[in-house]
Amino acid sequence: MKVAIGSDHAGFHLKEEIKAFLSGKGIEFKDFGCHSPESVDYPDIGKAVATGVAAGGFDRGILVCGTGIGMSIVANKVPGIRAALCHDEFSARASRQHNDANVLTLGARVIGPGLAIEIVSVFLSTGFEGGRHARRVAKIEGPGGAPGIC
Ligand code: RB5
Repeated sequence: MKVAIGSDHAGFHLKEEIKAFLSGKGIEFKDFGCHSPESVDYPDIGKAVATGVAAGGFDRGILVCGTGIGMSIVANKVPGIRAALCHDEFSARASRQHNDANVLTLGARVIGPGLAIEIVSVFLSTGFEGGRHARRVAKIEGPGGAPGIC
């Protein structure tokens, strides 16, 4: 399991907590920034993480901003990315089982670190169920079922 992680300034402190959790679990990750609570633009970091995941360099991505909304919008513009904004464990589990979500977005101004870490844990440990869900996920990418094929 290799994770790409990033945040803007609003998500910086939560990102650091998530990194500590990943390190404790022995999960490999790359931090795409930001590297301080100084103001940055979330699309720059969201695009970098999403592009890294879509290119196959990482199994999952985690993006944190104030609400999780901006990062979700940005990541979902990248072909092949299925980003899920989750603020509860049920949604995080379903996003993996049913949607094969490959990027999790979180809002550091919405939930606390304890719940966020539980959500990250569920997101990283839950598998895709396939079957009828695989057919539906293929339809997300277009009639051909693969990115760029229509
Ligand atoms: C930054 O103030 C805030 O707009 C950003 O973190 C995020 O919530 C955007 O969606």
